[in-house]
Amino acid sequence: MTSELKDKLSATAARVDAFLETRLSGLEAKMRAPMMHAALGGKKMRAFMVEQSASLFDVPVETALPAMAAIEAMHGYSLVHDDLPAMDDDDIRRGKLTVHKAFDEATAILVGDALQTLSFELISELEIDAMNTVTLSGRLAKAAGANGMVLGQAQDIAAETAERPLTLDEIKSLQANKTGALIWWSATAGAVMAGAEDKSLSEFANALGLAFQIHDDILDVEGDAAETGKAVQKDSSAGKATFVSLLGLDAAKNAAKEEVARAKDALSAFGDSAVALRQLADYTITRNK
Ligand code: IPE
Ligand code: IPE
Ligand code: MG
Ligand code: MG
Ligand code: MG
Repeated sequence: MTSELKDKLSATAARVDAFLETRLSGLEAKMRAPMMHAALGGKKMRAFMVEQSASLFDVPVETALPAMAAIEAMHGYSLVHDDLPAMDDDDIRRGKLTVHKAFDEATAILVGDALQTLSFELISELEIDAMNTVTLSGRLAKAAGANGMVLGQAQDIAAETAERPLTLDEIKSLQANKTGALIWWSATAGAVMAGAEDKSLSEFANALGLAFQIHDDILDVEGDAAETGKAVQKDSSAGKATFVSLLGLDAAKNAAKEEVARAKDALSAFGDSAVALRQLADYTITRNK
């Protein structure tokens, strides 16, 4: 990662974590500690996409901040539930115990529920045109729901026991839902906040989302648990359907590179103002966590 991107990304992560921490510190003790455990930390790449897409349309970061925190609350919920024993059954996330391990399963389920509703509460507080808030909110519900992330998670689990391996198109569709949908929302949020056309950003996001999940699957095979902050070598033992399981590592890496090139091409109309999003696209498939 370029040191320029590294600085920007860590500044965004610190800003979003500080915002969420202040927000969560007002909660009853019962939910405060487990929600902070779940919401703080991580790369905050989706928030960064919101911030950078907003800046393309001159929406200042102060205005975009509730939307940046909202998508990370939604993503945080998806991780807490993803780690549950009934799903991926993981003990470590972001270098710490998963929520159900640090607390208990009922708490982890409730933390996910509450983070999901928090994300809509935050969207409702955006100081932008009210119609644009409604659009952002509706798109978030769709992206996270039974036609988006939740569907992708269901497809992911179903693939573990499928009688035949998934086809490439089926894996692409699974990944587009599981990971792509929230990334699409993030990368288009700036255009929506400004009431602007989001076609180029949608193309960027669709390619980037796929590259992102392919690289996540590659990290599961080649990554180091101390760096990723989560268990590795889990997908093949669980029978997960991934680009790596179908095509092997080399073809998966090439596919991820092709998607990153497509993502960057989609930004051409923005010229130099999209430099950070281009750097983020490169980082998506070079990151070690
Ligand atoms: C991990 O997402 C889960 C997937 C959707 C593949 P991230 O790699 O963005 O995780 P954090 O938020 O940085 O921990
Ligand atoms: C998780 O995908 C996707 C969502 C949480 C929606 P993974 O199961 O591959 O994510 P990790 O590898 O546990 O972070
Ligand atoms: Mg999973
Ligand atoms: Mg998982
Ligand atoms: Mg994974």
